[in-house]
Amino acid sequence: MAEIRQLSQHVGENVTLRGWVEGTRGHGKVAFLVLRDGTGIAQCVLVKSQLPESVWDAHAELTPECVVAVSGDVREDARAPGGHEIGVTHMEVLATAADYPIQPKEHGVDFLLDHRHLWLRSSQQRAGLRVRAEVEQAIHDFLYDRDFVRVDAPILTGAVGEHAGTLFETDYFGERAYLAQTGQLYIEAACPAFRRVYCFGPTFRAEKSKTRRHLTEFWMVEPEVAFADSDENMRLQEEFVSYIVERALERCGDDLEVLERDTSKLELVKPPFPRISYTEAVEELQSRGSEVEWGRDLGATDEGDLMAERDLPLFVHDYPKQAKAFYMKENPADPRTVLCDDLLVPEGYGEVIGGSQREDDLDRLRERIAEQGLPEAAYAWYLDLRRFGTFPHSGFGLGIERTVAWITGKHHVRELIPFPRLMNRLYP
Ligand code: 4AD
Ligand code: MG
Repeated sequence: MAEIRQLSQHVGENVTLRGWVEGTRGHGKVAFLVLRDGTGIAQCVLVKSQLPESVWDAHAELTPECVVAVSGDVREDARAPGGHEIGVTHMEVLATAADYPIQPKEHGVDFLLDHRHLWLRSSQQRAGLRVRAEVEQAIHDFLYDRDFVRVDAPILTGAVGEHAGTLFETDYFGERAYLAQTGQLYIEAACPAFRRVYCFGPTFRAEKSKTRRHLTEFWMVEPEVAFADSDENMRLQEEFVSYIVERALERCGDDLEVLERDTSKLELVKPPFPRISYTEAVEELQSRGSEVEWGRDLGATDEGDLMAERDLPLFVHDYPKQAKAFYMKENPADPRTVLCDDLLVPEGYGEVIGGSQREDDLDRLRERIAEQGLPEAAYAWYLDLRRFGTFPHSGFGLGIERTVAWITGKHHVRELIPFPRLMNRLYP
């Protein structure tokens, strides 16, 4: 049994391919069948005079997504997709697919999401998810090459990881449990064991907003480094993001073409990335007429305004304390702020990374927990990390779907995860 991706090794031979029918055309004397086997697309040519009547008749009955086994001679043909053509000598229908719901016409996005289990087969979806898989592999390769140890964090947790507003709660044998918003607190605990660590997995936020960049279940990679300060943290982020983009450009050229992505802007993504402080960002926004006030977090509109005339990703660092999570380290140069950064990317995609140096002082951390009204008991173990050998450390979280949406140029993150979970969507 041959695979389409290997056809160049079989020129002049008779091979058998198995796969799904993408489409058929021509029923006079010559007919064509476009076959997809998951490794590629091949055009198969059927000549009536050279085939048993039963095969010719079976071809006429084929509809999209039928499964067939096609035997034929492999020929080079520069015009054919993939560069090869199959001169069919035999064909067998293995499964039918009458009334396949997704037709080659415009469907509404709700219809497509209701049929996500089938929509995955469409060319744009295949391309987007292949870029996602490449990005995930690039993440593991980059971190492995730099001696990071992957540490898997729990999904069921007893404490708020980021903010109280977006928790999914569940009953845990009579106790209250939450689905993890982040793995960060747990991998901080693994830092003294391995120095450089990361977790990679699904995270959950009961986001009540329907925007193009929010999912309720999304995937995040979170590296954490002992003895790294905020500056070193940003340097790691810019190298990491540049590597991921470069890998996608290098290995997913065909997919980006299917997605009609203009890659010229991605070619520019090389370290270092420009940096501005939150305070400078607010001044810039105000000077352009925005009513943003110092002290509140930047929203999607602010981020859009900041990025409107920028081609490179931008770090915005040192946000006001009250706008950010409890674990971020107070900025000694300006205690109203914390040592953190958001990485904003161009073309309307906004924040793809949130990172910070962590508060390593026991008393300040306890104060922050109290200030935010969080129950200290749930963080006793986390505070232990400051009691027993505290150390400066920093880390960040990169959202997979937002990063892949940016790289592929897709408008909405929901198409860059196989089965999106949104406020109004749990099916399929
Ligand atoms: O900025 P966030 O909330 O940071 C953290 O969770 C930290 N604990 C990370 C760390 O320092 N280890 O989230 C990080 C990233 C965002 O920049 C964004 O890319 C993504 O996660 N993200 C979402 N993606 C899709 N849907 C959502 N609802 C998201 N919320 C955050
Ligand atoms: Mg954030």
